[in-house]
Amino acid sequence: MKFFSSTKSAVDIVDDALFFPLFEDDSGSKELAIIDKKLNNVLLSILKAKDFKGELGETFLLNTNNLLPAKRLFLLGLGKQKEFSEERFRKAVGSAAKRAKNLSILNFSLCTHHISLEPYVLGKVVAEAVVLSNYTFDTYKTKDKKKSLESITLCHDSDDAKVKQGLHDAEIISSSSNLTRELINTPAADMTPAILAQKAKDACKKSGVKCTIFDEKQIKKLNMNALLAVGSGSANPPRFIVMEHKGKKAKETIVLIGKGVTFDSGGINIKPGSFMKDMKYDMSGSAAVIGTMQAIAQLQLPLHVVGLVATAENMPGNNAYRPGDVIKALNGKTIEVLHTDAEGRVTLTDSLCYAEKFKPSVVIDLATLTGAVTIALGNVCAAVMGNDDALIKKLQVAGDSTFERVWQLPLYEEFAELNKGAVGDVANIGGWDGKAGSIVAGMFLKEFVPSNAKWMHLDIANKAFSDKDTAYLAKGATGFGVRLLVELLQKW
Ligand code: BES
Ligand code: MN
Ligand code: ZN
Repeated sequence: MKFFSSTKSAVDIVDDALFFPLFEDDSGSKELAIIDKKLNNVLLSILKAKDFKGELGETFLLNTNNLLPAKRLFLLGLGKQKEFSEERFRKAVGSAAKRAKNLSILNFSLCTHHISLEPYVLGKVVAEAVVLSNYTFDTYKTKDKKKSLESITLCHDSDDAKVKQGLHDAEIISSSSNLTRELINTPAADMTPAILAQKAKDACKKSGVKCTIFDEKQIKKLNMNALLAVGSGSANPPRFIVMEHKGKKAKETIVLIGKGVTFDSGGINIKPGSFMKDMKYDMSGSAAVIGTMQAIAQLQLPLHVVGLVATAENMPGNNAYRPGDVIKALNGKTIEVLHTDAEGRVTLTDSLCYAEKFKPSVVIDLATLTGAVTIALGNVCAAVMGNDDALIKKLQVAGDSTFERVWQLPLYEEFAELNKGAVGDVANIGGWDGKAGSIVAGMFLKEFVPSNAKWMHLDIANKAFSDKDTAYLAKGATGFGVRLLVELLQKW
């Protein structure tokens, strides 16, 4: 896909289609009047008849019959002017791109002369909405595949260099988000730990990130007993992935960690079928870290960022770890396994402990960790927990702007009580019979965070995948975390 920017007027745009956005309560912009004159006032009649109301994401298609150089004109609804926001514009542009793609109109222009957004943000939101909307998971379809959009021209009258920069950055970030979505959507049989590691390596190679893969033998040598335990019931052995982006003039080290359970059957504590059907998505955190590493390298961010993924498949094979087993974690603490389906927090201990090696100032982990996060927050925003409120605030700001939002849950000391083991130092499920499940998981992770590091844990189990299409995303993996983390790191 190619993006262009143009400061031409809508009446001079030559393209397969031209999208012209309108508010519900638009009193008629100058640009609208100029177009309508060429179209013999047909737009005014359409608006008067309320055939097009301007509701958010609404589209109305007209053939321009050679009255305009563009072959087709789409009116595009922006909703109410006073409700206008970056996100609402993202949704409108997403609807436009999906509509065009569905009609196999692969080249279109978007007129934004009357949209008041900062030039960089304008370019960014448009490219983001288009690239994200263009992605559908059709890798396994053998027919009726929709063709990819080819060229999008953004017409505007703001600072062209800044618009172009926004388009450029967002294309990198959203394509990385789409890579993340593809890794997540791929069935678990085709996304084993070894394959995920190879995919990470490929993405790193393409973007100039250093990548080291540790196989099962090397993982044993590293003493990553937690990862080995979780992976031991599967015929597809674990991998440990280390990715490193060394930007110029970087002073501190930021470590990103992702949960990479390629399939979560629950293990010996096997899940009921209805809970198991989505468990190919259980490596969403790791896929988000891989996508983020690619994006920050391509954006050449001046930071030192390390990505860690301890990936395994949680299966009930004859060598599987069992309830009652005790595992010695990398930091020497013993983990009492009370439930083999609380495997995510177990695998994360190895990455958290390994992070110590880099003396990081900040550690951020992303994990589809608990079903309980959906009880707490529905599918609206992810949960964030951590030991530094200022850092959490920063993430919230990044979340509000990307609309990958996060809401803080408390890690009060009283919750630690719940993770006390009877036999080991910590147990992998807490007391209280499932109450505060997401927090209890967060408290467990806290036991393994490198000393002196600021740390945030994102529970993304409620946001990583969706069971329905939305304005600019599709059913399946959402890529949650990539745009959020890159925004945080761009503003670091
Ligand atoms: N992978 C699941 C969490 C999950 C649930 C992710 C739904 C996405 C959608 C995790 O490994 C898990 O099984 N958690 C258990 C923990 C429990 C056994 C303490 C849960 O949430 O039920
Ligand atoms: Mn589980
Ligand atoms: Zn899991």
